[in-house]
Amino acid sequence: MSNPDVMDKLVSLCKRRGFIFQSSEIYGGTGSVWDYGPLGVELKKNIKDRWWHAMVRSRDDIEGLDAAILMHPRTWEASGHVAGFVDPLVDCKTCKGRFRADKLEDARCPQKPSKQPGQHDACALTEARQFNLMFKTHMGALEESASIVYLRPETAQGIFVNFLNVQQSMRQKVPFGIAQIGKAFRNEITPGNFIFRTREFEQMEMQFFVEPGTDMAWFEQWKAMRMQWHLDLGLSKDRLQFHQHSAGELAHYARAAFDVTFDFGGTLGFQEIEGVHNRGDFDLTQHQQYSSKKLEYFDQVNNKRYVPYVIETSVGADRVTLAALVNAYREEAVEGETEGRVVLGLHHAIAPIKAAIFPLTKKDGQPEMAHAILSDLRNSFTVDYDETGSIGKRYRRQDEVGTPYCITVDGQSTVDQTVTVRDRDTLAQERVAAGSLKAYLAAKLV
Ligand code: GAP
Repeated sequence: MSNPDVMDKLVSLCKRRGFIFQSSEIYGGTGSVWDYGPLGVELKKNIKDRWWHAMVRSRDDIEGLDAAILMHPRTWEASGHVAGFVDPLVDCKTCKGRFRADKLEDARCPQKPSKQPGQHDACALTEARQFNLMFKTHMGALEESASIVYLRPETAQGIFVNFLNVQQSMRQKVPFGIAQIGKAFRNEITPGNFIFRTREFEQMEMQFFVEPGTDMAWFEQWKAMRMQWHLDLGLSKDRLQFHQHSAGELAHYARAAFDVTFDFGGTLGFQEIEGVHNRGDFDLTQHQQYSSKKLEYFDQVNNKRYVPYVIETSVGADRVTLAALVNAYREEAVEGETEGRVVLGLHHAIAPIKAAIFPLTKKDGQPEMAHAILSDLRNSFTVDYDETGSIGKRYRRQDEVGTPYCITVDGQSTVDQTVTVRDRDTLAQERVAAGSLKAYLAAKLV
């Protein structure tokens, strides 16, 4: 059975609860660009931190990098993006719609009844023309062709051009990797599905440099490690699949490629969230040629020089954020209550708020004690305080944003210094000494 389509409900929840807003909303919005609100920025940051920890901090063989968005324009000639990062585009002279010529079956003509572009008698599609997806701008005061620079369409090239800088400064030996998280920009013709395909997004990319001949073994290892990372993030096993690129699907740089796909439910179904690619020596060789600088590795032990092959893992931070939200969203009935609840069953590690603290009433010293607990826990966890409305409503508000624990200060608390801790998923409540809350949460939030 296919998973339900929860996208519209999520878009509404994300706006209402401060996760994600349409960019420049007061001006009518910017097409397919989104802003992360207070809870969204925490959620995405937690996902990025987890990736950084898995890929950089916990390993000796991967170094971090934060390369600039604006790069020398020759970079994009060498990488193949100026000539080849294109989609075939058609315009409709009647409805003024713009569509990808190779994806007409997925598009809808705005005329009614709903059909694909070209299927109404009035449709007047132009010949397909190649449309480059890179955003162009100018560097310096003069708007002349010599000053053209591009907003990077992938973070990977910043890694390739720094291959020797990182290898030599950090005295790394092949095999080793370079990882970075950063913004990328693509003037997508058919963006959409909320933050799934946007024009400004964040990538978490890692290039692993290996000796030619060992590349396919590393490719298999990275495939397995990256799938495990998604499972460890809490994405359901039955919603994750590999998709192998056929010869026709392979990007110009790739010798082999697998996508990690996630089932977003409804008609969107399984879609790519990460690409694992064997890029061979394509990029380093191209940059050697275009820059006239050698980008070889010298293997001192075996006294040989070579251009390493690259295994790339490339995952979208926004797509994983959306996958985590879709995966976590559930509606359930609550025993003894007429109204059900909406829960974001997010993995504890990525939940934007780890614990919420409530005084049961606004008197008898309960708010003071709750505030004291709040300031104590704040140094270790992201916490929230709420004294408005019934306790049931406060629980519902936290369930809806995925807060794993709610701590209530009640009449007994001010007498014996204990509080109740309620678990988001099991709804079980436990009495815990206020003084041991930090250790209690630390043990639970692993
Ligand atoms: N360096 C290789 C590369 O960029 P890609 O398959 O084009 O490969 C990698 O992109 C990942 O970046 C995708 O799996 C996806 O998660 C994310 N991504 C790509 N285009 C995107 C877009 N328009 N909006 C959001 N995420 C995008």
